[in-house]
Amino acid sequence: MELALELFPDTAAVEDGALSIGGVRATELASEHGTPLVVYCRETIVAQARAFRAIDPEALVAFGVKAFPNVALLRLLRGEGLGADVSTLGELEFALHAGLRGEELLFHGNNKSDEELTAAAAAGALVVLDSAEEVGRAAGAGARRVLLRLTPGIKARTHQSIQTAHDDSKFGVDLDGALGVLRDALDVLEPIGLHVHIGSQLARVDESLLAVDRLAAFCRRCRDELGWTPQLVDLGGGPGIRHSLDERVPPPHEFARALVERLRGEWPEPARVALEPGRSLVGRAGVTLYRIGATKRSGGVEYAAIDGGMSDNPRPQLYGARYAARLANRDGPPEGEFRIAGKHCESGDVLLGRVALPRPRRGDLLAVPATGAYTLAMASNYNGVPRPAAVLVAGGEATVIRRRETVDDLLALEA
Ligand SMILES: Cc1ncc(COP(=O)(O)O)c(C=O)c1O
Repeated sequence: MELALELFPDTAAVEDGALSIGGVRATELASEHGTPLVVYCRETIVAQARAFRAIDPEALVAFGVKAFPNVALLRLLRGEGLGADVSTLGELEFALHAGLRGEELLFHGNNKSDEELTAAAAAGALVVLDSAEEVGRAAGAGARRVLLRLTPGIKARTHQSIQTAHDDSKFGVDLDGALGVLRDALDVLEPIGLHVHIGSQLARVDESLLAVDRLAAFCRRCRDELGWTPQLVDLGGGPGIRHSLDERVPPPHEFARALVERLRGEWPEPARVALEPGRSLVGRAGVTLYRIGATKRSGGVEYAAIDGGMSDNPRPQLYGARYAARLANRDGPPEGEFRIAGKHCESGDVLLGRVALPRPRRGDLLAVPATGAYTLAMASNYNGVPRPAAVLVAGGEATVIRRRETVDDLLALEA
């Protein structure tokens, strides 16, 4: 048999060999909306959001918008009581469009422009200070209530590009310098909290627990040396998801719950908690559908080429990410191992190095699960390829939540 459905959204099913999500057949989705198409399952997103909210109903759960900036999903999550963590003017505008306001918004970034600081202040967002020099600039831009991002010196076991709290990280302020920054901030701003985020696609909780321990120790120093304690402690995002069957991770909400419990044990003084899950909210909810085109054998490798690739999902190239896949229009026993190549002009444009499938034929549909986070969000127009559409499926209906780009969209930018 082909890949089982465990990496797919909660509503994924196979009937007569064909995949459906949210009660809609993949074949219908592809013929109506074209391919590549990112299909999001509403039920899976809502279930993830509720699982995070259940950790502590008082906590601020802020969607890490960078995982997939999309107004419809932000509205859906807002309806579930979530806020948003944004890190650029663009992401802020997406969140504002979705109706999010004030302290439901956390504004991050290691190099916020004056325009971004002013917009964050005007929106009443909580600005997360990333460096000493930002104190005066945030105050000058009209920000008031702020958090300070700490860099606890922890090298998370994940791809090095998504480690964020090691000693020479570009993010945050190290624990030695942080007390001074807080002291300065107390003069011109109203610091209300501390933030830590050690990386993304984390498979082990132990390093994050160590970060919480260091954060709690820093809270004690703040109390003893500054007479200041945080009202809000933001434990960031980071819980990983399974992109392939050999990837093992704890359930994301249990990962986050362990951090919250550790914080309560190590820092028992009252403080609201914030969490910033991105990937774990939308990653498994998303499946990308591609149409198979050319097939060939080259140097002993069986190739099947898809109508997308590194322009809609650059994670294999950026992080060595490994995915799984199955045919979505028919089922059957594997007839070999196939390399799934993209359509771009690079030999490295390979989405899957090796996957067991029934022999793919031109016109077949390929479904790649766990592609809801950091895929469309990181998509490009390489080779002049328009970016794919996204639909949200539920109860047998599909709604376009992002329309497909056209070549005319690209040409509209040209002089
Ligand atoms: C500050 C911050 N919060 C939250 C996130 C979301 O992380 P993830 O998608 O791994 O949950 C990120 C992403 O790196 C981040 O930098």
